[in-house]
Amino acid sequence: MSRTYRIGVIAGDGVGPEVVREGLKVLRATSRAFGFRCELVEYPWSSQHYLDTGELMPETAIEEYRSLDALYLGALGDPRVERGLIERSVLLNIRLTLDLYINLRPIVLYGEHLTPLKAVSPADVDMIVVRENTEDAYAGVGGILKSGTPHEVAIAEMVYTRHGVERTVRYAFELARSRAKQRKVTLVDKSNAIKAQEIWRRTFSEVAAEYPEIQTDAIYVDAAAMYLVSDPGRFDVVVTTNLFGDILTDLGAVIQGGVGSAASGNIRPGAVSMFEPIHGSAPDIAGQNIASPVGAIAAIAMMLDHLGEDEAAHLIEATIRELVSSRRLPSLDARSGLSTKQVGDLVANEVGNAAMKSADAPGVSYQDGL
Ligand code: IPM
Ligand code: MG
Repeated sequence: MSRTYRIGVIAGDGVGPEVVREGLKVLRATSRAFGFRCELVEYPWSSQHYLDTGELMPETAIEEYRSLDALYLGALGDPRVERGLIERSVLLNIRLTLDLYINLRPIVLYGEHLTPLKAVSPADVDMIVVRENTEDAYAGVGGILKSGTPHEVAIAEMVYTRHGVERTVRYAFELARSRAKQRKVTLVDKSNAIKAQEIWRRTFSEVAAEYPEIQTDAIYVDAAAMYLVSDPGRFDVVVTTNLFGDILTDLGAVIQGGVGSAASGNIRPGAVSMFEPIHGSAPDIAGQNIASPVGAIAAIAMMLDHLGEDEAAHLIEATIRELVSSRRLPSLDARSGLSTKQVGDLVANEVGNAAMKSADAPGVSYQDGL
């Protein structure tokens, strides 16, 4: 019997549905080639759905997700809806409630011509950011008092628990151990100005002592931003707080070829996890068939890797790399000269050609989840 994965799909807002369509196209080509099945359960949570029905993602949906093998998300956010409402109701809620405590974000340069940096080659940009994904300023501790008055008070606490920090740091060291590269973990924090972040330094040194074969480094986030541009080759595995990880990985995405190019996994090892491109909903280019689906396709590769389909994941990555180096894919970001759909077709066809084993292998079947 062939392996079957049940994947929840939240296409979301803006360019989300466009890029998700292409990601699923590549998933379908890959599943045919590797002989596994995917059953898609589609969820409507988006700003449009909220505007049409007044419905936000219900808590019952979270329970349903626990029975899936993975979640695949497009993008969220729409200027017509209260700022952050949908992002908090869907994305941050899922991260927190399913305790997806790692946000894994690879930054890899596939071709020198893709980066806006000077004198940087692919050998210099091959890192992976391990962003803590449930705590920090994202924990939701705080609020606004006396809103709109001259005495208004706005508080957002940066929350770090020993448990939360340690499991993230440990994940980073395990990841470094599994990588063929430099085997170095760099902690990024701001413990000189933010005393509470001393917990990261202490936990980092304690965990590091268990991994004597792995080099360590600890730098402040302002310096990290500088080095990402001036000396990206110093980074291998980077471990950092939720907020700093958010900021640095947009910079990382641009360094590797554009914000449309990067993927991320919201991971809880051994449990249902969620995969998404790191870009936002980009309402300015939504519906124009010009957004890059590369980040969304790379997110499919990360999802397959998490599901144990590593060969399929590697094939997607290798295909993107090959299309870039042969310049058949001229750029990884929007306005590459190819439409969203053309990029999806190109990657899906290449994957299919490279790996097609039998014409009658099972493909993706759709199931309406609602
Ligand atoms: C990301 C996004 C989210 C975040 C937003 C949409 C809340 O920027 O996944 O990086 O800040 O985590
Ligand atoms: Mg972000």
